Amino acid sequence: MRYALVTGGARGIGREIALKLASEGNFVLINYRSNDEEANRTLHMIKEQGGQGALLKFDVANREETDRILGHWIEANKETPIQILVNNAGIRKDTLLIMMGSEDWDSVLDTNLGGFYNVTKHVISPMLVKKYGRVINIVSLSGLKGLPGQVNYSAAKAGTIGATKALAQEVGRRGVTVNAIAPGFIKTEMTQDLKEDELKKLIPLNRFGEAKEVAELVAFIASEKSSYITGEVININGGLYS
Ligand code: NAI
Repeated sequence: MRYALVTGGARGIGREIALKLASEGNFVLINYRSNDEEANRTLHMIKEQGGQGALLKFDVANREETDRILGHWIEANKETPIQILVNNAGIRKDTLLIMMGSEDWDSVLDTNLGGFYNVTKHVISPMLVKKYGRVINIVSLSGLKGLPGQVNYSAAKAGTIGATKALAQEVGRRGVTVNAIAPGFIKTEMTQDLKEDELKKLIPLNRFGEAKEVAELVAFIASEKSSYITGEVININGGLYS
Protein backbone atom coordinates (compact mmCIF):
# COMPACT_ATOMS: atom_id res chain seq x y z
CA MET A 1 0.00 0.00 0.00
CA ARG A 2 1.31 3.43 -0.92
CA TYR A 3 0.44 6.69 0.84
CA ALA A 4 -1.01 9.40 -1.38
CA LEU A 5 -1.66 13.04 -0.52
CA VAL A 6 -4.33 14.90 -2.51
CA THR A 7 -4.53 18.62 -1.81
CA GLY A 8 -7.94 20.25 -2.04
CA GLY A 9 -9.57 16.82 -1.73
CA ALA A 10 -12.85 17.89 -0.12
CA ARG A 11 -14.75 18.29 -3.38
CA GLY A 12 -14.62 18.48 -7.16
CA ILE A 13 -11.71 16.99 -9.06
CA GLY A 14 -9.72 16.43 -5.84
CA ARG A 15 -12.49 14.31 -4.34
CA GLU A 16 -12.71 12.10 -7.43
CA ILE A 17 -8.92 11.70 -7.47
CA ALA A 18 -8.96 10.72 -3.79
CA LEU A 19 -11.72 8.15 -4.41
CA LYS A 20 -9.96 6.67 -7.42
CA LEU A 21 -6.54 6.43 -5.75
CA ALA A 22 -8.17 4.79 -2.71
CA SER A 23 -10.00 2.31 -4.94
CA GLU A 24 -6.62 1.25 -6.31
CA GLY A 25 -5.40 0.32 -2.83
CA ASN A 26 -3.59 3.50 -1.79
CA PHE A 27 -4.03 5.07 1.64
CA VAL A 28 -5.24 8.57 0.81
CA LEU A 29 -4.52 11.66 2.89
CA ILE A 30 -7.20 14.18 2.05
CA ASN A 31 -5.95 17.72 2.48
CA TYR A 32 -8.48 20.50 2.77
CA ARG A 33 -8.54 24.09 4.00
CA SER A 34 -11.83 24.71 5.81
CA ASN A 35 -14.81 22.61 4.75
CA ASP A 36 -14.86 19.91 7.46
CA GLU A 37 -18.21 18.58 6.30
CA GLU A 38 -17.24 18.00 2.67
CA ALA A 39 -13.81 16.63 3.62
CA ASN A 40 -15.46 14.15 5.98
CA ARG A 41 -17.81 13.20 3.16
CA THR A 42 -14.87 12.37 0.91
CA LEU A 43 -13.37 10.23 3.67
CA HIS A 44 -16.71 8.54 4.29
CA MET A 45 -17.06 7.77 0.57
CA ILE A 46 -13.57 6.23 0.54
CA LYS A 47 -14.42 4.02 3.51
CA GLU A 48 -17.78 3.05 1.99
CA GLN A 49 -16.00 1.68 -1.06
CA GLY A 50 -13.66 -0.31 1.21
CA GLY A 51 -10.68 2.04 1.01
CA GLN A 52 -8.50 3.74 3.59
CA GLY A 53 -7.70 7.36 4.23
CA ALA A 54 -7.40 10.20 6.72
CA LEU A 55 -7.93 13.95 6.81
CA LEU A 56 -5.08 16.47 6.91
CA LYS A 57 -6.39 20.01 7.36
CA PHE A 58 -4.12 22.87 6.33
CA ASP A 59 -4.12 25.84 3.97
CA VAL A 60 -1.59 25.10 1.21
CA ALA A 61 -1.14 28.84 0.66
CA ASN A 62 -0.05 29.33 4.25
CA ARG A 63 3.58 28.28 4.50
CA GLU A 64 3.75 28.35 8.28
CA GLU A 65 0.63 26.19 8.65
CA THR A 66 1.79 23.75 5.97
CA ASP A 67 5.20 23.45 7.60
CA ARG A 68 3.61 22.80 10.97
CA ILE A 69 0.89 20.32 10.02
CA LEU A 70 2.30 18.50 7.01
CA GLY A 71 5.83 18.69 8.42
CA HIS A 72 4.62 17.14 11.67
CA TRP A 73 2.72 14.37 9.88
CA ILE A 74 5.79 13.44 7.83
CA GLU A 75 8.01 13.48 10.91
CA ALA A 76 5.59 11.29 12.86
CA ASN A 77 5.02 8.80 10.00
CA LYS A 78 8.50 8.06 8.73
CA GLU A 79 7.61 4.40 8.17
CA THR A 80 4.85 5.34 5.72
CA PRO A 81 6.20 8.11 3.49
CA ILE A 82 3.95 9.82 0.99
CA GLN A 83 4.84 8.36 -2.41
CA ILE A 84 2.10 9.92 -4.49
CA LEU A 85 1.46 13.67 -4.31
CA VAL A 86 -1.35 15.33 -6.24
CA ASN A 87 -1.13 19.11 -6.05
CA ASN A 88 -4.76 19.79 -6.88
CA ALA A 89 -5.80 22.66 -4.57
CA GLY A 90 -6.59 25.72 -6.62
CA ILE A 91 -8.68 28.85 -6.83
CA ARG A 92 -9.55 31.32 -9.54
CA LYS A 93 -10.44 34.99 -9.17
CA ASP A 94 -11.17 36.13 -12.69
CA THR A 95 -11.09 39.75 -13.72
CA LEU A 96 -9.31 41.86 -16.31
CA LEU A 97 -5.82 42.97 -15.30
CA ILE A 98 -6.87 46.62 -15.30
CA MET A 99 -9.39 45.79 -12.56
CA MET A 100 -7.27 43.24 -10.71
CA GLY A 101 -6.59 44.12 -7.11
CA SER A 102 -3.40 42.96 -5.46
CA GLU A 103 -5.37 40.50 -3.33
CA ASP A 104 -6.74 38.83 -6.49
CA TRP A 105 -3.20 38.45 -7.79
CA ASP A 106 -1.57 37.37 -4.52
CA SER A 107 -4.17 34.83 -3.41
CA VAL A 108 -4.29 33.07 -6.79
CA LEU A 109 -0.48 32.94 -7.02
CA ASP A 110 -0.10 31.94 -3.37
CA THR A 111 -2.58 29.07 -3.64
CA ASN A 112 -1.91 27.62 -7.08
CA LEU A 113 1.85 28.18 -7.34
CA GLY A 114 2.87 28.83 -3.72
CA GLY A 115 0.89 25.75 -2.70
CA PHE A 116 2.98 23.65 -5.06
CA TYR A 117 6.17 24.86 -3.35
CA ASN A 118 4.89 24.68 0.22
CA VAL A 119 3.67 21.09 -0.09
CA THR A 120 6.14 19.55 -2.54
CA LYS A 121 9.14 20.81 -0.57
CA HIS A 122 8.10 18.55 2.32
CA VAL A 123 7.09 15.50 0.34
CA ILE A 124 9.94 15.29 -2.14
CA SER A 125 12.76 14.41 0.30
CA PRO A 126 11.26 11.12 1.52
CA MET A 127 10.53 10.21 -2.13
CA LEU A 128 14.20 10.73 -2.99
CA VAL A 129 15.28 8.59 -0.04
CA LYS A 130 12.88 5.78 -1.03
CA LYS A 131 13.82 6.18 -4.71
CA TYR A 132 10.19 6.20 -5.75
CA GLY A 133 7.63 8.91 -6.18
CA ARG A 134 4.91 10.40 -8.31
CA VAL A 135 4.28 14.15 -8.23
CA ILE A 136 1.23 15.21 -10.23
CA ASN A 137 0.35 18.87 -10.59
CA ILE A 138 -3.15 19.82 -11.71
CA VAL A 139 -2.62 22.83 -13.94
CA SER A 140 -4.95 24.16 -16.64
CA LEU A 141 -5.47 24.92 -20.28
CA SER A 142 -5.24 28.51 -19.05
CA GLY A 143 -1.58 28.00 -18.12
CA LEU A 144 -0.74 26.78 -21.62
CA LYS A 145 -2.82 29.07 -23.79
CA GLY A 146 -3.48 32.04 -21.51
CA LEU A 147 -7.10 33.10 -21.13
CA PRO A 148 -8.41 36.67 -20.94
CA GLY A 149 -9.69 37.53 -17.48
CA GLN A 150 -7.28 35.04 -15.97
CA VAL A 151 -3.91 36.80 -16.03
CA ASN A 152 -3.36 35.75 -12.39
CA TYR A 153 -4.55 32.15 -12.87
CA SER A 154 -2.75 31.70 -16.21
CA ALA A 155 0.48 32.97 -14.62
CA ALA A 156 0.13 30.64 -11.64
CA LYS A 157 -0.60 27.58 -13.77
CA ALA A 158 2.14 28.42 -16.30
CA GLY A 159 4.53 28.82 -13.37
CA THR A 160 3.57 25.39 -12.11
CA ILE A 161 4.19 23.94 -15.57
CA GLY A 162 7.72 25.41 -15.52
CA ALA A 163 8.27 24.02 -12.04
CA THR A 164 7.04 20.60 -13.18
CA LYS A 165 9.54 20.45 -16.03
CA ALA A 166 12.44 21.69 -13.88
CA LEU A 167 11.74 19.39 -10.93
CA ALA A 168 11.34 16.39 -13.24
CA GLN A 169 14.96 16.91 -14.31
CA GLU A 170 16.17 17.28 -10.74
CA VAL A 171 14.67 14.06 -9.39
CA GLY A 172 14.40 11.66 -12.33
CA ARG A 173 17.56 9.76 -11.40
CA ARG A 174 16.02 8.86 -8.07
CA GLY A 175 12.94 7.22 -9.56
CA VAL A 176 10.64 10.16 -8.97
CA THR A 177 8.47 11.36 -11.85
CA VAL A 178 6.87 14.80 -12.01
CA ASN A 179 4.04 15.54 -14.43
CA ALA A 180 1.31 18.09 -14.94
CA ILE A 181 -2.24 17.45 -16.04
CA ALA A 182 -4.00 20.29 -17.82
CA PRO A 183 -7.80 20.03 -17.81
CA GLY A 184 -10.00 22.14 -20.05
CA PHE A 185 -13.57 22.76 -18.84
CA ILE A 186 -14.55 20.24 -16.17
CA LYS A 187 -17.95 20.24 -14.43
CA THR A 188 -17.27 21.25 -10.81
CA GLU A 189 -18.23 24.09 -8.49
CA MET A 190 -15.29 26.03 -9.94
CA THR A 191 -16.96 26.19 -13.34
CA GLN A 192 -20.62 26.39 -12.34
CA ASP A 193 -20.76 30.11 -13.18
CA LEU A 194 -19.65 29.50 -16.79
CA LYS A 195 -22.10 29.29 -19.68
CA GLU A 196 -21.72 25.63 -20.59
CA ASP A 197 -24.20 25.71 -23.48
CA GLU A 198 -22.19 28.38 -25.29
CA LEU A 199 -18.72 27.17 -24.36
CA LYS A 200 -19.34 23.56 -25.33
CA LYS A 201 -19.71 24.64 -28.97
CA LEU A 202 -15.96 25.34 -28.92
CA ILE A 203 -15.14 21.82 -27.73
CA PRO A 204 -14.81 19.07 -30.37
CA LEU A 205 -16.34 16.51 -27.97
CA ASN A 206 -19.19 19.02 -27.48
CA ARG A 207 -19.39 18.85 -23.68
CA PHE A 208 -17.61 19.73 -20.45
CA GLY A 209 -15.54 16.93 -18.92
CA GLU A 210 -16.36 15.07 -15.72
CA ALA A 211 -14.10 15.11 -12.64
CA LYS A 212 -14.08 11.30 -12.82
CA GLU A 213 -12.47 11.46 -16.27
CA VAL A 214 -9.61 13.57 -14.86
CA ALA A 215 -9.27 11.14 -11.94
CA GLU A 216 -8.78 8.20 -14.35
CA LEU A 217 -5.83 9.97 -15.97
CA VAL A 218 -4.33 10.97 -12.62
CA ALA A 219 -4.62 7.37 -11.40
CA PHE A 220 -2.66 6.13 -14.41
CA ILE A 221 0.10 8.70 -13.91
CA ALA A 222 0.11 7.90 -10.17
CA SER A 223 0.58 4.19 -10.86
CA GLU A 224 3.73 2.21 -11.61
CA LYS A 225 2.42 1.77 -15.17
CA SER A 226 3.46 5.34 -16.06
CA SER A 227 7.10 4.71 -15.16
CA TYR A 228 8.67 6.24 -18.32
CA ILE A 229 6.62 9.44 -18.40
CA THR A 230 8.09 12.52 -16.72
CA GLY A 231 8.26 16.27 -17.26
CA GLU A 232 5.07 16.12 -19.33
CA VAL A 233 1.99 18.29 -19.49
CA ILE A 234 -0.92 16.06 -20.42
CA ASN A 235 -4.03 17.72 -21.80
CA ILE A 236 -7.51 16.51 -20.95
CA ASN A 237 -9.85 18.94 -22.65
CA GLY A 238 -12.14 17.20 -25.15
CA GLY A 239 -9.99 18.40 -28.03
CA LEU A 240 -10.36 22.10 -27.21
CA TYR A 241 -6.63 22.82 -27.41
CA SER A 242 -3.53 20.79 -28.13
P1 NAI B 1 -13.09 23.20 -6.74
O1 NAI B 1 -13.18 24.63 -6.41
O2 NAI B 1 -14.31 22.38 -6.74
O3 NAI B 1 -12.01 22.46 -5.84
C1 NAI B 1 -10.82 23.05 -5.45
C2 NAI B 1 -10.51 22.54 -4.07
O4 NAI B 1 -9.28 23.13 -3.63
C3 NAI B 1 -11.59 22.95 -3.07
O5 NAI B 1 -11.91 21.84 -2.26
C4 NAI B 1 -10.92 24.04 -2.27
O6 NAI B 1 -11.38 24.15 -0.95
C5 NAI B 1 -9.47 23.57 -2.31
N1 NAI B 1 -8.56 24.65 -1.96
C6 NAI B 1 -8.55 25.90 -2.45
N2 NAI B 1 -7.62 26.63 -1.83
C7 NAI B 1 -7.02 25.80 -0.94
C8 NAI B 1 -5.98 25.99 0.00
N3 NAI B 1 -5.39 27.17 0.12
N4 NAI B 1 -5.60 24.95 0.77
C9 NAI B 1 -6.21 23.75 0.64
N5 NAI B 1 -7.22 23.52 -0.22
C10 NAI B 1 -7.61 24.54 -1.00
O7 NAI B 1 -12.40 23.17 -8.16
P2 NAI B 1 -11.99 21.97 -9.14
O8 NAI B 1 -12.62 22.26 -10.42
O9 NAI B 1 -12.21 20.67 -8.50
O10 NAI B 1 -10.43 22.28 -9.29
C11 NAI B 1 -9.40 21.39 -8.90
C12 NAI B 1 -8.11 21.78 -9.61
O11 NAI B 1 -8.30 21.65 -11.02
C13 NAI B 1 -7.70 23.23 -9.37
O12 NAI B 1 -6.29 23.30 -9.26
C14 NAI B 1 -8.15 23.93 -10.63
O13 NAI B 1 -7.40 25.09 -10.87
C15 NAI B 1 -7.92 22.85 -11.66
N6 NAI B 1 -8.68 23.01 -12.89
C16 NAI B 1 -10.05 22.93 -12.89
C17 NAI B 1 -10.73 23.06 -14.09
C18 NAI B 1 -12.21 22.97 -14.19
O14 NAI B 1 -12.75 23.19 -15.30
N7 NAI B 1 -12.95 22.65 -13.12
C19 NAI B 1 -10.02 23.31 -15.35
C20 NAI B 1 -8.59 23.35 -15.23
C21 NAI B 1 -7.96 23.20 -14.03
